[in-house]
Amino acid sequence: MPRHLLTGTELSAAELATLLDRAAELKAAPLSSSALERRTAALIFERPSTRTRTSMEAGVVELGGHPMVLRPEDLQLSRGESVRDTAIVLSRHVAVIGLRTGSDELLEELAAHATVPVVNLLSPSHHPCQVLADLLTLREAFGALEGLKLAYVGDGNNVARSLGAVGALAGVQVSVAAPAGYQLEDSADVSVTDDPVAAVAGAHAVYTDVWVSMSDDEASASERRVALAAYRLDDELLDRAAPDAIALHCLPAHPGEEITAEVLYGCRQRIWDQAENRRHAQKALLELLVG
Ligand code: CP
Repeated sequence: MPRHLLTGTELSAAELATLLDRAAELKAAPLSSSALERRTAALIFERPSTRTRTSMEAGVVELGGHPMVLRPEDLQLSRGESVRDTAIVLSRHVAVIGLRTGSDELLEELAAHATVPVVNLLSPSHHPCQVLADLLTLREAFGALEGLKLAYVGDGNNVARSLGAVGALAGVQVSVAAPAGYQLEDSADVSVTDDPVAAVAGAHAVYTDVWVSMSDDEASASERRVALAAYRLDDELLDRAAPDAIALHCLPAHPGEEITAEVLYGCRQRIWDQAENRRHAQKALLELLVG
């Protein structure tokens, strides 16, 4: 059976720690591994992506492999071929399949029938690759992860869920501050409040994400902006966190909405390191799954 990464919780705590160590090594020496030499990674993007696509493509090349980026219209899947048949055929040609999709069920079905590892490149419920990079970034900032407190402020979405689930493996406590209707109600891994100031008290990192995600329709956008207006990550909120707290954002950002430009480009953020760390963390993941 291949090893998949659909939620991030397929990793043990020890594997996660080793993966982050390896990611740091690969960051220091990006061309030191040939784990994917002459192998192909199929990267299917049903949705747009800047960070995930570029970091995966560049990362596969740095590992000696060939990234095959596929849009839905490139595949017979868009003309009714089954997910099962697609999984079987792709598995005969490539070493690993990455998928960004608007359907958790499609991802699970692909993984159920693939005979090579499947990596979730973002689904409605989870974004585990993002959180591997986030944990690497936290480790760089604080040296260790165990006992850190992270406050996520804003829409309780897939990133918040993955932060709770994968963060728990590393001993990172996650609290989510969101208004009623936007809270992460189905996660046992996070503490939930509607008070952003309470959530950030003592936090080593304050994290936010867009208020209107790719899966949200434009009709609900203005309603979401009103509901989430009190959950903006600004300097005042960051001042309420621990004295050396850092600001994080998985990007893309909308300065003036969920985060101010002062924080996004300021001296307390590690957001651009987070974006870079996608590549290093995913390379370590690919080594683990394919190597
Ligand atoms: N954070 C993230 O996944 O960015 P992209 O949507 O640009 O890949």
